[in-house]
This record gives sequence, C-alpha cells and structure tokens, in this order.
Amino acid sequence: MSAARTCAGDGWGGGERSVVLMFDTTISRAQARHAYDTIGTGLDRAARFEARAGAHALAILGLKPGQRALQIGVGTGTAHLAIARAVAPGGQAFGLDLSRVMLRLTQRHSAAPLCEGDAVALPFATHSFDRLYCAYLLDLLPAADLPRALAEFARVLRPTGRLALVSLSEGVDLPSRLFVAAWKLRFRLAPQSLGGCRPLRLRPLVERAGFVVERRDIVTQHGFPSEIVVATSPTAAGWG
Ligand SMILES: C[S@@+](CC[C@H](N)C(=O)[O-])C[C@H]1O[C@@H](n2cnc3c(N)ncnc32)[C@H](O)[C@@H]1O
Repeated sequence: MSAARTCAGDGWGGGERSVVLMFDTTISRAQARHAYDTIGTGLDRAARFEARAGAHALAILGLKPGQRALQIGVGTGTAHLAIARAVAPGGQAFGLDLSRVMLRLTQRHSAAPLCEGDAVALPFATHSFDRLYCAYLLDLLPAADLPRALAEFARVLRPTGRLALVSLSEGVDLPSRLFVAAWKLRFRLAPQSLGGCRPLRLRPLVERAGFVVERRDIVTQHGFPSEIVVATSPTAAGWG
C-alpha cells in the first residue's frame, strides 16, 4: 500500500491527491468483484454504520416523481428500492454494479433496469439522468480512477442534474478519529477484509471535477464517519 503522493498527468494537480485520500492504491477490480460476490447479503451488516448517512443523502438529493435516477454501486438494493419509490410514478431508477451477486440481490426489490458495469466507464448516454446516487463506492476505487469516475458522473447527468455521494471519511471527534485510526491500520494489513474501502475527502474531489457543492454534511454512526456531498452538474470544463 503506497502512501499518498502527487503524479503529473493523471488528472490530479500538485498536492491535491494527498488532501483527498491517504492511500493511493486499494484492491483490484477482480478482488472487488470477488469480495462483493462473496459477501452477498452479509453486506447488509454495514447498515449498522452506514444506514443513517445513506438515508440522509437520499433525503437531500431531491428525488421527485417522473425523474430518471441512476445509482452506481447498488449493493444489496436497499437504497435502490427507496430511489425507485421516490421517482414513481412516471420516473425510472437505473442501477449499475460490478458484482453480479449484488445485481441479483437488488433485483429482488425492484424490476428497475440494472446492468453490470464499472463506475469509470458508464454504459449510458450523455445527459441522460436527473439524479445520481453513489454511496461507499468511490472510497474503494484506486486514486487514479477517481477523476475518471467523477468525469463519467458529470457526463451522464443532465445540465440541471444533481448527485449525492457518500463515503467513509476522516474522523471528526474522538470516537470517530479512533475508529478511523483502527480502520486504517486494518486497511494496511488486509484491505480486502474491508471491501477495499478507505477514508477519503469527498468535497475537494467533487469540486475538482467542476461540480458545484450545494451541501456537505458529516454523519457518524457508532463512530463510523461518513461524508455526504450533494452537488449540481459541472459548469466548468472539469478535470484539466
Ligand atoms: C461498499 S458497497 C456499497 C453498496 C451500496 N451503495 C450501499 O450503500 O450499501 C460497494 C458496492 O459497489 C460495487 N462496486 C465495487 N467496485 C465497483 C466499480 N468499479 N463499479 C461499479 N460498482 C462497483 C460493489 O459490488 C458493491 O455493490
């Protein structure tokens, strides 16, 4: 696991990467697919730490009947169900995930269109969604893929579109700082045991991609700190 550093030509400016995250590398795509195919419904145990932040993010995303919404990284489908209900009637909730097992589990909840794919190469047309939701996925992508994922999110959102992102973040008080310190230690030793997730700072990442941040909150649950960012489509050119 290499510590954060800056590299020219990979979409990151000098010093920015170390502001966003401490660990550049994480598990590979193949390891991520295997980890989430294997854990299956066991992923629902994470709700003990993540449910509050996820519910908050969906509440402030501004989902409305008739909208086309996309969730990247559907997991077992809990949020997908909430999104599908919020855009009905008349709207559609699409979902994408790397893991076929996660897609099958999500299918139990909804008949919404789901597809296998990667967050860094979305199989959707430009400007095709009003809302995009992505929780606890960016924190498991390698640093080099984060600009690519954000550029894809910007591409598929309509000019009036809005996204909500949720991620494990750095601690904000003593319990969450201790929690994150223990998490980082375990991540150094066995990143796969944590599904490849490590803390990152969403706000600078989202702003660097040209999005306009409307709201940023930190929610902690049993010491687990989550950062929530709600932002509107980029007005600027984005990653340069
Ligand atoms: C930590 S889980 C979070 C699931 C869900 N968003 C939630 O909040 O419960 C990460 C999800 O992202 C999926 N995933 C991992 N890497 C991905 C990638 N590169 N592209 C799309 N999905 C990915 C995993 O299969 C898993 O379903």
